Amino acid sequence: MNSPEDLALYTELTDAVGALEAGQQPEWPDPAAVQDAVAQLRAMPPLVFAGECDLLRERLAAVSRGEAFVLQGGDCAETFAGVSADNVRNKLKTLLQMAVVLTYAASVPVVKIGRLAGQYAKPRSKPTETRDGVTLPAFRGDIVNDFEFTESARVPDPHRMVRAYHASAATLNLTRAFVGGGFADLHQVHAWNNDFVRTSPAGQRYERLARRLDQALKFMRAIDVDTEQLRTVELYSSHEALLLDYELALTRIDSRTGAPYDVSGHFVWIGERTRRLDGAHLEFAARIRNPIGVKVGPTTTPDELLALANKLDPEREPGRLTFVTRMGAGKIRDALPALIQKAQADGLVASWICDPMHGNTYEAPSGHKTRRFDDVVDEVRGFFEVHRSLGTHPGGIHVELTGDDVTECVGGGDPIAEDGLGSRYETVCDPRLNRTQSLELAFLVAELLESAN
Ligand code: PEP
Ligand code: CO
Repeated sequence: MNSPEDLALYTELTDAVGALEAGQQPEWPDPAAVQDAVAQLRAMPPLVFAGECDLLRERLAAVSRGEAFVLQGGDCAETFAGVSADNVRNKLKTLLQMAVVLTYAASVPVVKIGRLAGQYAKPRSKPTETRDGVTLPAFRGDIVNDFEFTESARVPDPHRMVRAYHASAATLNLTRAFVGGGFADLHQVHAWNNDFVRTSPAGQRYERLARRLDQALKFMRAIDVDTEQLRTVELYSSHEALLLDYELALTRIDSRTGAPYDVSGHFVWIGERTRRLDGAHLEFAARIRNPIGVKVGPTTTPDELLALANKLDPEREPGRLTFVTRMGAGKIRDALPALIQKAQADGLVASWICDPMHGNTYEAPSGHKTRRFDDVVDEVRGFFEVHRSLGTHPGGIHVELTGDDVTECVGGGDPIAEDGLGSRYETVCDPRLNRTQSLELAFLVAELLESAN
């Protein structure tokens, strides 16, 4: 049950955050059901330990100093049906392969953050969806309602928050087991490449890199260097802190320090649609001790950026604040410099991460929401160019990806055409890079990082 400290915190948070306007929240039809679901969540144990959040903050402080690089990736929207061993393992393989490419090819430490174990709530550009003349409430993620296009499926159900908690717990548990149990061992580099990806051009390139890495490991063993620490990795969880009923219920006092942490994930971010300075989401983020991200799109002004930093990181604490830029390939070179210059002039210590996905979405003639791999690459290039010209550190990438062989984004070295999108289009929200496209992107980023070193 709740400790007196947690009870006091919950009251304080609901008063402060609840007094402000919160965008993108569902209209739960039954208030008693919300109370019941929230009470259940408040009785649940934390999904992450506050000390892990602190460690991630230290890692991100290194990123803000230019000493490390963030790889953040996973689904646009996780689903309850997607909580399976195969699905989690394949996503993990993708992240591990990308991280190896970045670490080994570019010789930088990589901070690995999954967009997983909690990424269940989605903001929507329209509150309704119309298909063949039928209009229903929009799908807001499995934590709120069901993707199926029927009236009853789209009714917001607060008990889905409890299911999302359990789905996150199962995902995180399996991830921790894989990572701690030898799956992420660097000696396994070939095993991560043992499925369909191996025959693709990026898979072949990876295989060559893995062979060189094997040689390096053999050499280390031969000269008696202890390779024990290569048997595991640090992998953190993250999601958008969108659904406030859920996040507030999972915010707790850390018994070591007395400070509040959102224990639903290590890193949470505030999305482009809910980062209003006087809104509930920013107030919530300002009150928790986790490392925080905030998405910044092409309309963000330098003054707004500074106001975000003043609200979220008034102490200018290294590792606390990450700006996740999502400008669009055509805009990043014009929109980003003024923001970075403002941050520099005002002594911010934030990390900068490039989300090359959300500014590059368009609708294909088939009606599929998609992204061009070339645009994704171009935005990443623009991000590096801007940072290089200003002498600042391109701190990482934030991508929507899957471990499967889906056809959701067009292009790539094993190219997917617009008219082929229908063959394996499985996302319930935004289009993700498939496994080979993700690996290809990692090689490209490694080249960019290498040339910057
Ligand atoms: C997302 O990350 O899935 C998302 C909705 O991004 P943004 O807030 O940048 O639009
Ligand atoms: Co998305």
